[in-house]
Amino acid sequence: MIREQTKPNIEFHTPVMVHEVLNYLVITNSVKKLDQEPMYIDATLGGGGHSKAILDIIKKGIVIGLDCDSDAIDYAKTRLSKYSNLHLYQMNYTELDKVAKEFPDYYLDGVLFDLGVSYYQISTPARGFTYNADGPLDMRFNQSMPQARALEIVRHSSLPELKKIFFEYGEERYANKIAQHIFNHRQQINTTLDLVRIICEKTPSHQQTKTLSRIFQALRIAVNHELENIKIGLERSIQLLVKGARIVVISYHSLEDRITKQTFRHYAQENIIKVLTKKPLRPTLAEITINPSARSALLRAAEKI
Ligand SMILES: C[S@@+](CC[C@H](N)C(=O)[O-])C[C@H]1O[C@@H](n2cnc3c(N)ncnc32)[C@H](O)[C@@H]1O
Repeated sequence: MIREQTKPNIEFHTPVMVHEVLNYLVITNSVKKLDQEPMYIDATLGGGGHSKAILDIIKKGIVIGLDCDSDAIDYAKTRLSKYSNLHLYQMNYTELDKVAKEFPDYYLDGVLFDLGVSYYQISTPARGFTYNADGPLDMRFNQSMPQARALEIVRHSSLPELKKIFFEYGEERYANKIAQHIFNHRQQINTTLDLVRIICEKTPSHQQTKTLSRIFQALRIAVNHELENIKIGLERSIQLLVKGARIVVISYHSLEDRITKQTFRHYAQENIIKVLTKKPLRPTLAEITINPSARSALLRAAEKI
């Protein structure tokens, strides 16, 4: 068991369940291919906390860090500049097979997905993810992509589309009522706090925090096509792993976890992987005390057979 205290990296992100990730992902005594070295893909680099932990433990091989947010790449590039075996790419993890092909001398020994948003993204009002401060209704992970921002979704979706987004991606019980109210007042919505005001007008005060969190989550998922991406990313990773290699996924809500569970179950039934976590692992109480953002984390792991 690897035990090392994780220092909170307040400015960008504190990595979650680091010991559990390492224990499942990096099997230090396994030699899968004698003529090649291992490669690990951190599909959601963020502040590079998990990548750093992997780099510190592997004796040979490389780590590839992907993130579609250029702020994450820039931050990790500086923070982890001493590691010559780290390769960073601003890229959607659905394209991880293309990067893996650039390293034919290495075999894929492990892939990590730490889904959701980083602390930096959620706490930077200019990115539009937070309902606690005013900012543009953006919510794109990749700000250089011309995809619809949250503002365009709010302003240009039909009423049935808005209801579907809030109901399916937010699991929000007041989805219909809120969608209708937003639809009626959408010309007044420009910023995050405009949206907050409209949502709160139709939500009982004791429900407001939960509803705001669900509606913002729903818009974020819609803007970034998150659920489609998770399925593609997991499937491509499973195809690429060599026999005995591992995939680890940390989810933060039931929609992400359901896709992981169903994808793992499907490939296990096909005898392509073996699921290593019967039930998802949760962070320890000690970790949640140090880092309350870890409280909803659910970790699942599987091995290629
Ligand atoms: C929870 S953070 C990861 C934190 C990271 N493990 C650490 O230790 O700092 C999730 C990251 O995934 C990135 N992300 C989300 N969807 C992505 C995708 N489809 N492709 C690449 N990166 C993605 C986000 O931009 C964010 O930086």
